[in-house]
Amino acid sequence: MPNNGQETVLVGSRGPRLSGQVVLVTGAGQGIGQSIALRAAEEGAHVICVDIREETARATAASIGHTSTSLQADVADEQSVAALFTEVRRMGPLDHLCNVAGVAGPQGAVVDVRPDEWDETVRVNLRGPYLMSRAAVPLLIETGGSIVNIASALGHIGWRREAAYGPTKAALIQFTKSLALDYAPRIRANSISPGAVHTPMIQAVLDETGADPDTYGAIHPLTRKLIPPRAIADACIFLLSRDATFITGADLPVDCGMLATGRTTQELTQ
Ligand SMILES: NC(=O)c1ccc[n+]([C@@H]2O[C@H](COP(=O)([O-])OP(=O)(O)OC[C@H]3O[C@@H](n4cnc5c(N)ncnc54)[C@H](O)[C@@H]3O)[C@@H](O)[C@H]2O)c1
Repeated sequence: MPNNGQETVLVGSRGPRLSGQVVLVTGAGQGIGQSIALRAAEEGAHVICVDIREETARATAASIGHTSTSLQADVADEQSVAALFTEVRRMGPLDHLCNVAGVAGPQGAVVDVRPDEWDETVRVNLRGPYLMSRAAVPLLIETGGSIVNIASALGHIGWRREAAYGPTKAALIQFTKSLALDYAPRIRANSISPGAVHTPMIQAVLDETGADPDTYGAIHPLTRKLIPPRAIADACIFLLSRDATFITGADLPVDCGMLATGRTTQELTQ
C-alpha cells in the first residue's frame, strides 16, 4: 500500500529466487545433492536430477513432481556425459550446474591407499566435475548461468587417512577458479567447502570407524554437531541466485567454524 507517495517494500517478499530457471544437480539421488535438488525446486527451478544410480535420481525427481526430470549418468565417464548432454540439450536452455556427485575414497594412510582406489577417487571427484563443466559451458554461456562445485573443508587442511579425498577437493577448488576466470563475464563459478554433513557418505565413515555422530560433530565449533544437508543447499541456492551476482571464483566454507580453528579432528577431540 502506498505510504507518503513512496512504494511500500515488503521485506522477504521477493518470491522464489530461481523461478523459471533450469538447474542440473549431480549426485541428486541422496545426501547433499538430493537436498540441493529439493531446495532448487522450492525456489521455482526446474531440476534435472542426475545420479549414477538411476532409481535414486528418479525417486528425488518424483518427490519434486512435474518440475523435475531424472537422468542416469556416470559423471566421470566421457561417453556417459556426452549422452547425458544430448538429452539435456534436447530439453532446452540450462541455467545452472551443481557438481555434487562425489565419493569418500579410501580411509587410509598414504602407503595403504591402493593406486586403483586413488584413481577412482580422482576420477569421480575431479574428472567428474571437469567433464560435466566442459559439457555444460556452451549451454551456460547462452543463458549467462553459473556453476557450483561441492568441494570440502578437507580441501583446505590436512587430515589423517584422507590421502586421496583431500587432494581431489583442493584441486576442485582450484579448478573452480579456472572456470570463473576462463568464462567471465558470461558464467560465474564458485565452490562450497562443507564441514562434516550428516549424509549416507558420512554415515558410512561413522560406521567404519565406530564413531558416533555427536563425537564426530565436535569438530564444529559453532554447533558441535554434524551439519544438516539443507545448510549446504541453502548456501548453494545463494550462490546460484542473483544475490551472488558479484561473486565468482570464490570458495564458501559452510563448516560451522571448523576451518577457523586451523586444527584437525584429532587435535580437537584429544
Ligand atoms: N558428507 C560430508 O560430510 C561432505 C563434506 C564435504 C564435502 N562433501 C561432498 O559433497 C558431495 C556429496 O556428498 P554426500 O555426503 O551427499 O555423499 P553421498 O555418498 O551421500 O551421495 C553422493 C551421491 O553421488 C552419486 N555418485 C557417486 N558417484 C557418481 C558418479 N560417478 N556419477 C554420478 N553420480 C555419482 C551417488 O550415487 C550418491 O547419490 C560429495 O562431492 C562430497 O565429497 C560431503
